[in-house]
Amino acid sequence: MSDVTDVLKQYSADVIKTIEKNLGVIEPQNLQDASIYLTKAGGKMLRPALTLISSEAVGGNKEDALETAAAIELIHTFSLIHDDIMDDDDMRRGMPSVHKVWDEPLAILAGDTLFSKAFEMIILSKDAHPTRVANALATVADACVKICEGQASDMSFEGNFDVNEAEYSEMIYKKTGALIAAATKAGAIMGGADDEVVTALYEYGRMIGIAFQIQDDYLDVISDEKDLGKPVGSDIAKGKMTLMVVKALAESEGEDHERLLEILKDENCSQDMVDEAIDLFNKYGSIEYAHNLALENVAGAKEAIAILPDSDAKDMLIALADFVIDRSS
Ligand code: IPE
Ligand code: IPE
Ligand code: MG
Ligand code: MG
Ligand code: MG
Repeated sequence: MSDVTDVLKQYSADVIKTIEKNLGVIEPQNLQDASIYLTKAGGKMLRPALTLISSEAVGGNKEDALETAAAIELIHTFSLIHDDIMDDDDMRRGMPSVHKVWDEPLAILAGDTLFSKAFEMIILSKDAHPTRVANALATVADACVKICEGQASDMSFEGNFDVNEAEYSEMIYKKTGALIAAATKAGAIMGGADDEVVTALYEYGRMIGIAFQIQDDYLDVISDEKDLGKPVGSDIAKGKMTLMVVKALAESEGEDHERLLEILKDENCSQDMVDEAIDLFNKYGSIEYAHNLALENVAGAKEAIAILPDSDAKDMLIALADFVIDRSS
């Protein structure tokens, strides 16, 4: 595990430099500060590392994909800033959320600035082949539309306890899987892969992305705020439809079913109530069910990249697939 976090750190150094250089010109100063703030707070940098490693895994080099990798991290950061407004969460990456340090209007603008800069950075990629740039742009734009669609579903599912597993799966593919898939696909494109390999890397990213969100939902229930760097129990308090909730509601009836609904509907959910919900998740096998589905997706992701030639980069993609569900933050 520490291997993987070390690798993520190594890959992130140039990405952070590229981001800082590109955001250093933003005016006025408060918008620049709000735009760069979460990058300075330090995230895992999973997505840009996936872009760089995917480029290497198809025979390209890291430099070919550097601006695209940085752009993907900016799209991710934009989605986090806006997500914290939507979810009304006060903490991100161990720091107060952007809309708490500044205010909602500036946080919306910071997100929009990152979104726009991301596209500009891909367009201005150094020494890049124009067709690759165009394909990477189309890939990232497609992911952005899907993030908005997924986030819209996530919001409309809040308090809608009829959501089924297929609807949940589509929602997490769009809000989380699509950007991770775009990260690996765009890396493959910038590295010069052929269509079959580009498709394989999209599929790998899509599947680890789904597993990643299942694990995120799990960590929201079992972690503590200090380790996670963001609020814990927030999903239950908001009545979010996670796989654990969807499954426990589908399997339970009578008193247990009613009690779970009561907890999910209570906006001031206490730790005792979260613990009670976890007991119900366990009773109806929904934590195990969610974990198994995440495991299946990780296995599918590894199968998808079996066509790649052996390399250190391929081994790292395999290790990263395991990391998304072994991680504790
Ligand atoms: C959080 O993503 C948002 C989700 C899609 C669940 P990460 O857990 O990758 O966040 P950082 O970048 O490490 O802060
Ligand atoms: C986030 O899902 C998906 C995004 C597109 C940002 P969550 O709302 O579960 O992410 P966290 O838990 O706040 O990071
Ligand atoms: Mg959130
Ligand atoms: Mg959210
Ligand atoms: Mg979450």
